[in-house]
Amino acid sequence: MTLYRDALLGKSDDKIVSFTSSIDEDRLIVNEVIEVLIAHVHHLRSEGLIPYEVGDKALKALRELLKNSDELFRFKVEDVHEAVEVYLMNALGVDAGWIPLGRSRNDHVATALRLKTKRLVVELIGEMLKFREVLLKKACSYLEIPLPLTTHLQSAQVSTVAHYLTYIEEMLSNYTSIIYAVLDVFVDKSPLGAGAIAGTTVPLNRLELARLLGFNSLVNNTLLATGSRDFICVVASVITSLAVSLSRIAEDFIIWGTPQFNYIEPPTTHLATSSMMPHKKNLVTMEVLRAWGGEAVGHLAAILSVVKAVPSGYNLDLQEVTKHLLKLILNTIEALTIVRDFVEGTEFKEETLRNEVYKYPITITDLAEFISVKYGKPYREVHRELALLMKELGEFDMNKVCNELSRRLGISLEELHRAITPENVLKARRVVGSPNPELMLETIRNFKAVLNSDYDRYAALISRLVIPNEY
Ligand code: ARG
Repeated sequence: MTLYRDALLGKSDDKIVSFTSSIDEDRLIVNEVIEVLIAHVHHLRSEGLIPYEVGDKALKALRELLKNSDELFRFKVEDVHEAVEVYLMNALGVDAGWIPLGRSRNDHVATALRLKTKRLVVELIGEMLKFREVLLKKACSYLEIPLPLTTHLQSAQVSTVAHYLTYIEEMLSNYTSIIYAVLDVFVDKSPLGAGAIAGTTVPLNRLELARLLGFNSLVNNTLLATGSRDFICVVASVITSLAVSLSRIAEDFIIWGTPQFNYIEPPTTHLATSSMMPHKKNLVTMEVLRAWGGEAVGHLAAILSVVKAVPSGYNLDLQEVTKHLLKLILNTIEALTIVRDFVEGTEFKEETLRNEVYKYPITITDLAEFISVKYGKPYREVHRELALLMKELGEFDMNKVCNELSRRLGISLEELHRAITPENVLKARRVVGSPNPELMLETIRNFKAVLNSDYDRYAALISRLVIPNEY
C-alpha cells in the first residue's frame, strides 16, 4: 500500500519502489525513527495541537511498536516513515491522520540519523577508552623492554615496547578529543520541527522537542537542519582517518608476528592456519583490520561523492549515504574491540627483543651524538666518519665499530661500549616523548589523567543518551 502518492500520482510500480525505497537500510534506524515520532506526538498533544485521546492512543501504539517493529518491514513502502504511518492507520484508523501535522520526513529522518549517529559514536568512544586503558596498563609492564623501531622499514633506533604502546594511546586520545568536538559541533543538535525545508506554521517549540530527545542544542536554520549531511561527512572523515591509522598498527603487528621478525606471541584465537601448509600461523584478524582501513576510505569516498553538488535542500540522493555511514561506524567499533583483544592477549618476546637490539646498528646514532657532544666534534663530521667506517667494515658489527673508533679517536673502549648499550642509550634520551623509561612512567601517569577525564565526559554523555521516560 502506498500512502503518500495515491492521490496525486496513482499506483506505484513494485520495481520502482524497490529501486527508490530505503526500507531495508532503515532497519538500522527504526528505533530512532519511532522515538522521534513519539517526541513529536507527545509535543503535539501537550501543546493541544491534536485531540488529547488521539495523542494518547498514538503514543501507546508507538510504544508497542518500539518493542517489536518487525511488521513494518513487511509493508511495500518508500521507507520506514511511511511504514510507521501505515502501522498507525491500522492501529488508530482515521485518527492516525492527525499525527503528520507539522512534520516532514526530511526533519524526521535527519533527527533519527543524528540520534543514531550520536549513540553509535558514543559506543565507539567507549571502545576507544577501553582500548586506551589496555594500552596504558600494558605499557607499564614493558617500560624497559627494548624494541627496534624502523624508518623505511629498516632498523632505525632502539625504543621500548612501552613507547610503541603509548604511541597508539596518544593517537587514540587525539581521536577521542576530536570526536567529542565533532559530536558537540556537528551531531548533537536537533533538526526536529524544521518542516520539509523552511519551517512550519504549526507552533512547535523546537527547543522543547530537542530536550525531549536529549539533544544538546538545535540546528538553527531549517534548511541546514533538513538538507545538510555535513555531520555525516565530518563524522565519516574522522572515523575513516581512525580506521586508516588502525590499519598501520595492524601492519606493524603482522610484520612483528612473522617468523622472520618473531617479536610477538599473538593470542592463538587471532591466528588461522592454511588448508594446505601445516605450519602456517596467519595473523588473520590484523589482516582484516588492515583491509578495513581501505574499505573505510571507500565508504567515505561514497559518502562525499553522493553529497557533492546535491542542490541545497533534501534530495533523495541523501538517503543513499546512510548505509555507508552506519557501516563505517559499526565496523570501526568492531575493529576496535578486536584490536584491543589482540593487544591485551599479545606477549612481546623479551628475550628475542633483547637480543635483537644487538643485531643491528640501532644505537650508532646515539654513539655519534655522544662523540659529538662529549668530544666537541661537529656532528656531520662524526656522522661521516661512522658511515665510512661502516662501509669499510662491510658489516654491522658494533663491537668492531667501537674497537676501530677507540683506536682512531683515542676514546676508551669501555666508554664507547657504555655509550651504545641499549639501557644507557634509553636513559640518555631525555627529550620529551622519547622512550626513556623514567620519562615514560611520567608520561603514562599523565596519559592516565587525560583518560580519566575522557571517561568522565563519556559518563556525562551516556547519562544524556537516555531519553526521558516522561511521555
Ligand atoms: N527515506 C528518506 C531517507 O532516508 C527520507 C524520505 C525523504 N523523502 C522525501 N521524498 N522527501 O533519507
